[in-house]
Amino acid sequence: MSTEQVAQSNLFKPIRLNKNVELSHRIAIPPLTRARATKDHVPTDLMAKYYDDRTKTPGSLIVAEGTFVCPEAVGWGHAPGIWSDRQVKAWKQINDKVHANKSFISCQLWNLGRQADPVLLKEVGIAYKSASDVYIDEETEKKAKEIGNPLTPLTKEEIKNYVENVYPNAAQNAIEGAGFDFVEIHGAHGYIFDQFFQETSNKRTDEYGPQSIENRSRFFFEVLDSIVARLGGDGSKVAVRISPWAFFGGMEGNTRGIEKTKQEFGYIVEQLEQRRQKYGLAYLSIVEPRVSGVLSIEKDKVIGDNEWIFDLFKGVVLRSGTYYSFDKQFTALLKDVNNNDRTLIGIGRPAISNPDIVERLRNGWDAVYYDRDTFYVQRDDGYNTYGFHGQEAPKFSEEQKLYAGVPLA
Ligand SMILES: Cc1cc2nc3c(=O)[nH]c(=O)nc-3n(C[C@H](O)[C@H](O)[C@H](O)COP(=O)(O)O)c2cc1C
Repeated sequence: MSTEQVAQSNLFKPIRLNKNVELSHRIAIPPLTRARATKDHVPTDLMAKYYDDRTKTPGSLIVAEGTFVCPEAVGWGHAPGIWSDRQVKAWKQINDKVHANKSFISCQLWNLGRQADPVLLKEVGIAYKSASDVYIDEETEKKAKEIGNPLTPLTKEEIKNYVENVYPNAAQNAIEGAGFDFVEIHGAHGYIFDQFFQETSNKRTDEYGPQSIENRSRFFFEVLDSIVARLGGDGSKVAVRISPWAFFGGMEGNTRGIEKTKQEFGYIVEQLEQRRQKYGLAYLSIVEPRVSGVLSIEKDKVIGDNEWIFDLFKGVVLRSGTYYSFDKQFTALLKDVNNNDRTLIGIGRPAISNPDIVERLRNGWDAVYYDRDTFYVQRDDGYNTYGFHGQEAPKFSEEQKLYAGVPLA
């Protein structure tokens, strides 16, 4: 594939997300959890440099890593939050840098549910919750019961609190307090809303329960509507992520069957389209069947596709999953970005090791391969130690690589 083909594709054409945001190109960095916040979930100076570096091309969109909506949503170390004043002030500093680059940033609103570590939760006195009491695996069940923090279903009172207070507060903190351009509700990868969506993890007997996808998605849509209401009835700063095909987090993935997946997630996408027409939505982020969470799927195991989503949803769709190929054969990327003028292409893992992935694509420059061992470590190694084109191997001392950052607030 030649550099000219990439340059002449839709990829480097502008695209509008709402009345204030026009992107200068169609590459977005999807959310990448990196564990460089403090133990109490405050963003650090390491993160400020990371987000600054990855938005240097004006008019870029980056979706920040999964960000906990409240103290009860946690259960995984060193990811950031957006509920406290300190967290909001820290994010504001990061977002000011992104805006100084004339770029844009989303906050992915995250709640782990049954994917939390029940032991970590116990340490901070938080109950282990999901749609139902269906554990992600036997090992976690054993651990949770031994420590005295068994998995229990969210009560209707707790659901109501999430709908009326927790999520709208987090969204307001993100947009009005921290200056994010968008919030993206994390409905993907087997986290709380996916735990409600899917029959395998939702055994409730009330109106949020398994009888129908209408019931199973009720919590999610109540949260979406409530966030939009809190933001003044305008949904154009609100986005959503779903992953119909992913196995991540103990989900059924493509074993549910293609037709059932299309039918169930089709209902969700149709409802999103109705809401887009009613109050606007910034974009719908979808995960391609070529990946499941943080891992690629072997080629012969990929089942299903996401083309049908474009028939149902008429807004901008952000697609992620192995679009960047290090051999520069951008076949899927060019096909999908040219096929439909409402397409954003997410490039995740390669953006970890190439802060300037947009310019590398534009200019046909080689990209550096990422190192999975440094994805989640609490030090700068593998985070800000990758260079821009022409300075691939900046010199970092061992001491610099070990630097774990300081909170921004
Ligand atoms: C280290 C790492 C962290 C991730 N964290 C998140 C996350 O916080 N939220 C989310 O929705 N997806 C997350 N993902 C999935 C990515 O957003 C993306 O969908 C996936 O990496 C596929 O894109 P790629 O093939 O371009 O890497 C993560 C992936 C990786 C590799």
